[in-house]
Amino acid sequence: MLEQYMNWYSFALEALNYDVKNAKRFEGIERVIVVGMGGSGIVGDMLSTVTQTYSKTPFHTFKDFYLPQNFVNKNTFVLAVSYSGNTLETIASVLQAINAGMPIGIVASGGELIDIARERGIPYTIVRQGLAPRSALPLLLIASIKLLHSCGVLPVSIDVIEKSVQILKDVERASTIASQLAEFLVNSRLPLIVSTTRFAPLAIRLKNELNENAKMQAKVEIVPELFHNDIVGWERGVVSEKAIVIDSDTNYENLLLDFYANYLKSVGFEVFYLRLEGNIIERYLEGSLIAGLTSVKIANALGLDPLQTKSIAMYKNFLKKYREKIEKEVLQQPS
Ligand code: F6R
Repeated sequence: MLEQYMNWYSFALEALNYDVKNAKRFEGIERVIVVGMGGSGIVGDMLSTVTQTYSKTPFHTFKDFYLPQNFVNKNTFVLAVSYSGNTLETIASVLQAINAGMPIGIVASGGELIDIARERGIPYTIVRQGLAPRSALPLLLIASIKLLHSCGVLPVSIDVIEKSVQILKDVERASTIASQLAEFLVNSRLPLIVSTTRFAPLAIRLKNELNENAKMQAKVEIVPELFHNDIVGWERGVVSEKAIVIDSDTNYENLLLDFYANYLKSVGFEVFYLRLEGNIIERYLEGSLIAGLTSVKIANALGLDPLQTKSIAMYKNFLKKYREKIEKEVLQQPS
């Protein structure tokens, strides 16, 4: 598993060369909704934030079996991302989009979604198989950006991506920070992850990686919203816990983060600053790499198998029984 993360730079270069099948340009796209769950769905969180800086098109992300009704129209492009291509939430959303005649693009390593794309002439990209979805992040993210380009939607230029992926070359730096963070977190019961709004996808990603690879719980809180609720929750004190503060590329945001870090220390937290460099895409990529490596290092230290996610499999098995019922109800929604 560690090796999959260590290969992210070469994954990124590989994805920059992927072909888009059934490529076609759609006219009149006004917005994009990215659907997908877990390690695939994080691509939507990242794209909806990155595009606030780099694109004129509004991006949204939605993670459920259905599409929000006010997004169901022919000017909304649906990008479906599922590493396996078999995730029922994502499939049901795509079926709803097909029913409504919406423009769609699919990124997967295979599975049912690729079958659907082939049958219906939907633009799609196949990423390499055999990985854990979470360790395929650069493949899924870059394949999604390339697919959107070929459909006439510009989330961010390919030049910016080519430049940004260079940060993944420095595996040494990422691995050193990951070792320090793993040591900091290994005995924590419920670490608190703090970031600003634009870096929330990274905070969520770190939580998800700790959940899946290290079988560990974590809590995410976002500045400035946390100053309006979460901050009060520590007034009764904390026995002893760990907080990770993900820094920002904006000065005033770092001031707010420092203020909260000092407050957390005053109520009993130990604080680890995750300091990243570069533009938001570089920070997402390097931060996600550090998150992946940290969680695998914790798993290794605790003698756990980072690859195995029994509970997700249990949920997916449970869902299979209700597939027909769910799809029927989703597709009955007025569009
Ligand atoms: C991440 C992971 C899960 C899956 C999620 C959706 O590594 O295993 O979070 O990403 O269950 O499955 P896919 O990605 O196949 O659509």
